[in-house]
Amino acid sequence: MTHDGGPKEAQERSPSLSIVEGNGADTPARADHPDAHRPIELHKQTAHKLEVIRRYDPVFGAIMAQGDWHGQQVHIFLVDTHGGGGQHLSIERGWTYGSPAWACFSARDIQRRHSNVQVHVRAIESDPAAAHLLRLTVQRHIEAKGTDHVDVRVIDGDYRDHLAEVMDEVRRNRAACRVLVDPHGIDIPLWTLAPLLKPAWGLEVIINFDASGALRVAHQLLKKGGLAESSDFDDLLLANAAHQSALGEMFGGSSWRAAVRKGMTWHDALESIARADAELFAPYFAHRNVYRLRSSDNQVRYLVHLARHPLGVTKFREAFGAASREGLLATRFLDGPGRSAVAASFHALYRGTETTIERLHEEHGHRYDKRALRGICEASDQDLYGVFDPKTDTISWFPKRRKPTQTTLFGHLDLE
Ligand SMILES: C[S@@+](CC[C@H](N)C(=O)[O-])C[C@H]1O[C@@H](n2cnc3c(N)ncnc32)[C@H](O)[C@@H]1O
Repeated sequence: MTHDGGPKEAQERSPSLSIVEGNGADTPARADHPDAHRPIELHKQTAHKLEVIRRYDPVFGAIMAQGDWHGQQVHIFLVDTHGGGGQHLSIERGWTYGSPAWACFSARDIQRRHSNVQVHVRAIESDPAAAHLLRLTVQRHIEAKGTDHVDVRVIDGDYRDHLAEVMDEVRRNRAACRVLVDPHGIDIPLWTLAPLLKPAWGLEVIINFDASGALRVAHQLLKKGGLAESSDFDDLLLANAAHQSALGEMFGGSSWRAAVRKGMTWHDALESIARADAELFAPYFAHRNVYRLRSSDNQVRYLVHLARHPLGVTKFREAFGAASREGLLATRFLDGPGRSAVAASFHALYRGTETTIERLHEEHGHRYDKRALRGICEASDQDLYGVFDPKTDTISWFPKRRKPTQTTLFGHLDLE
């Protein structure tokens, strides 16, 4: 059976949307996930992607919070169709966060800065163990009070069954929304993204597009049909149902063929197929751009950024540029790993006590100014060395560094 994509077909194929939040069904959830065992430093494109998201979400929030809202509350949704386990193993930091967890930090920062904004984080995850781990990771944001409290929901299941419901919630709230579509491979049939194609104010979509994966499948297909002569690709497609389902469904047809022309270099073909993917959304998003992530393990991925407003395009490009520079300057002070390293050494000095930025400045002012110290305190909070209160510029250092799963005082004491 083939699918030509499009909202109508998606509606017909969409299963019941009545149950949005499950509990992992019968499978007992374990707090485990492959990302928690694979160091992020060895997976450059994942680190690059996360750095872009970490930088762009607060800017997206700021863009949406601007404007004359006449005192009305503004709602912003940060949505992950492929939530992951919330944590990635890190050689430099022990562990670091996945995209929905960074979205929670961004949500908190946006709410702290803009009192008229409420941010909602939604993450759909089909692996019950990963969903369980993600829940534990984001729990601190749910438990937090005031502007630090974030409305987070981890939704168990396949995004195909839940995306329409989430987007309905976005529309009901007349909210702006950033959606990250982040699969491992190329299993994102176009029809499954149909809920993103309905009119919506302030919607931006980021697709982590596996260009080398798509291209390998395209080349296999072309080779099988006789690369030079084959002109009737439809026969070829029909002869190979497995590949048809991967590539044909992702493109909702055969537009990928025009992107992969004979004689193209591998490099040009990667860019071309990524652009072809972006162009699928031409009628729905005025601005479609592709950004090549740093590659790892022979895998080349692009972030496909779909936006309706030129400001989003400019700001996303800036975030991507800054994230790319950050990796190159990984050993310089004040990048992410640098802040984390100083946070670890401060924790060794101050654990179990409370310190103000003022005091840290007295003791370390020869090396770090107050702005840098604030960044270090924020990194200490994110890396669970303590709790930083930006209102009083004070940090309470934990006696022992916590793990992301130790979210409550009782959990912490149990593990001591
Ligand atoms: C690349 S990881 C996501 C990583 C996460 N976005 C991050 O940056 O930390 C892909 C995740 O999608 C989940 N997944 C795969 N197919 C899915 C589907 N159809 N619906 C929801 N989640 C899915 C996998 O279990 C895996 O945890």
